[in-house]
Amino acid sequence: MQTTPSIDTPQAAGLKAKEDTLLTPRFYTTDFAAMDRIDVSSLRADWDAMLAEYEGDNNHDHFQRTPEFAAEVAERFSQVTPELRQEFLDFLVSSLTSEFSGCILYNEIQKNVKNPDIKALMRFMTRDESRHAGFINQSLKDFGLGIDLGDLKRTKAYTYFKPKYIFYATYLSEKIGYARYITIYRQLEREPDKRFHPIFRWFERWCNDEFRHGESFALIMRAQPHLLRGANLLWIRFFLVAVYATMYVRDHTRPQLKAAMGLDPTAYDYEVFRITNAITQQVFPISLDIDHPVLRACMSRLFEIQTRIDAAKARGGAVGKLRQVGLALAGLATFARLYCLPVRRHALPAQVRMAPAW
Ligand SMILES: [Fe+2]
Ligand SMILES: [Fe+2]
Repeated sequence: MQTTPSIDTPQAAGLKAKEDTLLTPRFYTTDFAAMDRIDVSSLRADWDAMLAEYEGDNNHDHFQRTPEFAAEVAERFSQVTPELRQEFLDFLVSSLTSEFSGCILYNEIQKNVKNPDIKALMRFMTRDESRHAGFINQSLKDFGLGIDLGDLKRTKAYTYFKPKYIFYATYLSEKIGYARYITIYRQLEREPDKRFHPIFRWFERWCNDEFRHGESFALIMRAQPHLLRGANLLWIRFFLVAVYATMYVRDHTRPQLKAAMGLDPTAYDYEVFRITNAITQQVFPISLDIDHPVLRACMSRLFEIQTRIDAAKARGGAVGKLRQVGLALAGLATFARLYCLPVRRHALPAQVRMAPAW
């Protein structure tokens, strides 16, 4: 099911990237003076080891197209159905927007802080995200759908988040990004005939960058333990529910993409949640109980509501509008129900850093 107009011109791709809905990736800005005050000295050894990894830059040669890339696109992607083509383009545009969102945020922080630890980290992460965004954009350019990133940066709306919300949300999106990419990579390793586009072959080393970005935010949060207890647990719970639910609904609106890879969207999403839950125990003392039957029912209810919202939008007119309002309220109530479900609690490990072992 396609919720928006087809991506068949660079203008349409650009508009898609600028879309601001609950489900689309956003651009963020934050309080740079507060970022300047972050002190990671309690985890100095871990921090310096991590910066040394960035310095070593083991992916410096990874985001280059090989001569076979174009040939593989021509040979395999030319055979996909128009529906799959649209879902894949939608996936590329939303992935590019997320990668570029990180690139802009990290770069703005890097330019606006003096704190040498944060400045160095943000410079490395900007480098990585800019490679990621550029690599996806090259694939869009193969179809004549390259996005003008300068224009996107100037014209897409920005959301202001306090630093702690940036930490919760960005940490989660980096780790969930890792879990998504590695799950796809492993699946296509098992079933290479389902690899309908060469970009998936890049995902393994790519997602190690995302894993390390997540590690950086884990250290920042563990160095400020007040962010991980008391009333802040309510915020952590909110971001867990929001990020998981958004991913679930968005993936289910692209069923062809998963089916082409031999993945069932629901099974794929719960596998990604399972990996993310295992990783986030390094920093969050709570995790969502992803096996709770009510959680599972609410997730599919949210997707059903989204489907009906899309139908009401397509219908238009006063009735369509009224339906959209009713459905939005139903969505809110379902989200609240998810938020109130019991969570799993765990003690934080003494050793913060983890290895990307999936
Ligand atoms: Fe990235
Ligand atoms: Fe990242």
